[in-house]
Amino acid sequence: MTEQAEKGGAAVSYEAVPREVIKTCDLSVRYETDLGESVSVLDRVSMTVGEGEFVCLLGPSGCGKSTLLKVMAGFISPSSGVVTLDGIPVTGPDWQRGVVFQNPALYPWLTVEENIAFGPRMRGVNRSKTAEDTRKFLGMIHLESAARQKIYELSGGMRQRVAIARALINDPRILLMDEPFGALDALTREQMQSLLRSLWTQNRKTILFITHDVDEALSLGTRVLVMEKRGGAFKLEMSADFTLRISCSDPVRASREFLQARGEIMSAIVNNPADYVI
Ligand SMILES: Nc1ncnc2c1ncn2[C@@H]1O[C@H](COP(=O)(O)OP(=O)(O)O)[C@@H](O)[C@H]1O
Ligand SMILES: [Mg+2]
Repeated sequence: MTEQAEKGGAAVSYEAVPREVIKTCDLSVRYETDLGESVSVLDRVSMTVGEGEFVCLLGPSGCGKSTLLKVMAGFISPSSGVVTLDGIPVTGPDWQRGVVFQNPALYPWLTVEENIAFGPRMRGVNRSKTAEDTRKFLGMIHLESAARQKIYELSGGMRQRVAIARALINDPRILLMDEPFGALDALTREQMQSLLRSLWTQNRKTILFITHDVDEALSLGTRVLVMEKRGGAFKLEMSADFTLRISCSDPVRASREFLQARGEIMSAIVNNPADYVI
């Protein structure tokens, strides 16, 4: 079954039951504390992200969202269980999972274009293909004029655009994003959301996106997951298609449907009055 929506004249479609790209099976993670205690963060978590999906993951601070993403990225090993990418177990980081964090880890001694070209260079892609792809991705993130600038000369939003292009140029199977726009001001965040939506629409890249912002999750994701406070189980799962309908002139975010979904997600995240107390 295929759903379709019109956006900016271009037909956008996605499979309602997509082929799975990344999958966790009974994934558990325990951390050792400085006092030598073992703390369980994820307890037998099973989930999948399918081809072309844009999954947004929400949950109270400290519930294990970043831990889940780091295991998927291959940065940490699970205590038990497995993560597979296209059915093959993940054993460490590689370019098939592009990762973007809140504070982009760019190389300050390289220019914008050198940062973007870094992955293909390391993988031994030939120079002309790397140069062509670098130009293409510089265009996609609207930073052609900053190609020769150093990272310290860029604003936070520009750095985050470079980080996204640097991940996408490797043509990863999935983009794993951990609160990528969390440190940006409201206007820049809005612009970055639009840019990411259009990159996703053009490339149909599979995305797992962690955020603490319910509006951001609903206006970007095709599926929203809310994690429990402890253990990593999902207490709410919601399909969404607002991202396919949002445009500058479209008041989707003020619609009753959007506000209702927002309320449902908010109460799933904060269902204990004590959680309001800081
Ligand atoms: N390296 C670590 N060692 C010990 N505890 C950790 C480590 N990383 C995270 N934690 C703990 O695991 C829990 C989940 O952390 P995290 O995955 O970062 O949560 P979230 O991203 O949802 O805020 C928190 O209680 C955090 O303090
Ligand atoms: Mg986190």
